[in-house]
Amino acid sequence: MAEAQGGANEGVSGEGRKPLLRALGGEAVWPPPMWLMRQAGRYLPEYREVRAQAGDFIALCTTPNLAAEVTIQPIRRYGMDGAILFSDILMVPWALGQPLRFAEGEGPVLEPVRDAAAIGALQLDRMRERAAPIFETVRLTRAALEAHAPKVALIGFAGSPWTVAAYMVEGHGSRDFHTARGMAYADPQTFGKLIRILVDATTDYLLAQIEAGAEAVMLFDSWAGMLSPGQFRRWVIEPSATIVRNVKRLHPSIPVIGFPRLAGPLIGEYASRTGVNTVAMDTAMDPRFAASAVAPNVGLQGNLDPLALVAGGIALETEARQILAAMRGRPFVFNLGHGIEKVTPTEHVSQLVRLVRSGG
Ligand code: CP3
Repeated sequence: MAEAQGGANEGVSGEGRKPLLRALGGEAVWPPPMWLMRQAGRYLPEYREVRAQAGDFIALCTTPNLAAEVTIQPIRRYGMDGAILFSDILMVPWALGQPLRFAEGEGPVLEPVRDAAAIGALQLDRMRERAAPIFETVRLTRAALEAHAPKVALIGFAGSPWTVAAYMVEGHGSRDFHTARGMAYADPQTFGKLIRILVDATTDYLLAQIEAGAEAVMLFDSWAGMLSPGQFRRWVIEPSATIVRNVKRLHPSIPVIGFPRLAGPLIGEYASRTGVNTVAMDTAMDPRFAASAVAPNVGLQGNLDPLALVAGGIALETEARQILAAMRGRPFVFNLGHGIEKVTPTEHVSQLVRLVRSGG
């Protein structure tokens, strides 16, 4: 089988092609393929075990055999159609040399980058070398999947420049990212310099993942929805479009998924102007609106409320069926509208997998 060849990363066409790659590439596959954002994580007891063994979160992300193991855990347990590389969007700033730690119960903490000197200190030329363990995780995971789960596609990812810059400038998570949004208005020249470095770093980071065996890549723009339409076009759409163009120049058949969270009515413009193959819908997006705003050959992904998955039972069934009904007949990948909650009962995920596999 063509897809069993380790080094060849370009999509394989024809009947044997992986369901997730067919859907991401614009085919209406039914029942739809599925995976869940943050499907490897603290709601899984087997994850908590490996996490304890690794010590801290960055150590887990940079120890290839452990990171590959947690990437595969949800595949083993649920048989998803996609495995997403276990890493974090903040590993790009980390690989550029910005000090980062994940404080227990507090989330990420970075040494803020707010002026030309701090931006100048970022080491784009050392990114690949520092991030090498992450690319090795991709290699190990792809080999394990081909050996044990040959229909499962490996998804690589990065944060989008806007969202990653927001953390880099703010220095930590935030409700509104006032400092970053303020800087984007007050000093667009300096902020633009940071965005340009991130466009180059993210392009190279995704290319290295594809070279190592990632079969699709996703751009997470979790904080896209807090921008004005003008700022959204400038800091979300334009940089994302450049990255998509850069990746496609070298790997035209690798599907790209974009997740412009809370983009609302700008979802159609995001889809057409970035050139992503599939747009991931957040929880608040009406799938019927997305279906009318996004061209029918562009895939949609999403968008079950992670809290419906926590609740389970009839609430979960009702919400999931509504999404499936709205998406039938178009290229679609079932997923959540945001990352899985750590209080999610594992048997609710099994319930959801059964429901989606039955086509609703
Ligand atoms: O989806 C997956 O299973 C792949 C792995 C993945 C993680 N983070 C692992 C992780 C992915 C794709 C991400 C993306 C990510 N990271 C985003 C974009 C998506 C989103 O959720 O909006 C963002 C904004 C981050 C930044 C980040 N990383 C935050 C704010 C936190 C702390 C929040 C928390 O839950 O503690 C992280 C840490 C993190 N990234 C964890 C995991 C499994 C928890 C760390 C732990 O195990 O202690």
